[in-house]
Amino acid sequence: MLQNVQRIKLDSKGDARGQLIALETFSSQVPFEVKRVYYIFDTTPGTVRGKHAHKVLRQLLICVSGSCVIRCDKGDGAEPVDYSLDWPDQGLLIEGMVWREMHNFSKGAVLLVLASEHYELSDYIRDYDVFVKEVNEAKER
Ligand code: TYD
Repeated sequence: MLQNVQRIKLDSKGDARGQLIALETFSSQVPFEVKRVYYIFDTTPGTVRGKHAHKVLRQLLICVSGSCVIRCDKGDGAEPVDYSLDWPDQGLLIEGMVWREMHNFSKGAVLLVLASEHYELSDYIRDYDVFVKEVNEAKER
């Protein structure tokens, strides 16, 4: 488990009819105000998405259908860690500076993302070397 990355088991209300998961802002499962929701679907086979870090954004990722792998890298020289998401009650909370890549989307996969901020280009770091530099500078502060 990486610092700033946490698996969250989402509380599923199951009964004879099936499953239901409800997510609320500022709950134990979503510890931030949700300002934006987006989802990734109809992914081209073999594609890798993401390949960026965020400066302040907090996100909860849930593969609500199918499966995918979220590769997380702290930029500190340690090996990246792969988190497999393959069931709708599995959440991955990413907070702080983490380089993330989404891999291995299964056919029909739908990756839902709850985000703490509106879409803001200036919050993105899209160059890996710049990301590592910022991680190192933050360590020195
Ligand atoms: P992109 O950042 O490439 O997605 P990924 O998370 O897979 O790296 O975004 C794809 C396109 O969607 C790009 O044109 C920006 C746009 N976009 C929005 O308009 N709003 C959003 O909230 C997001 C995440 C992307």
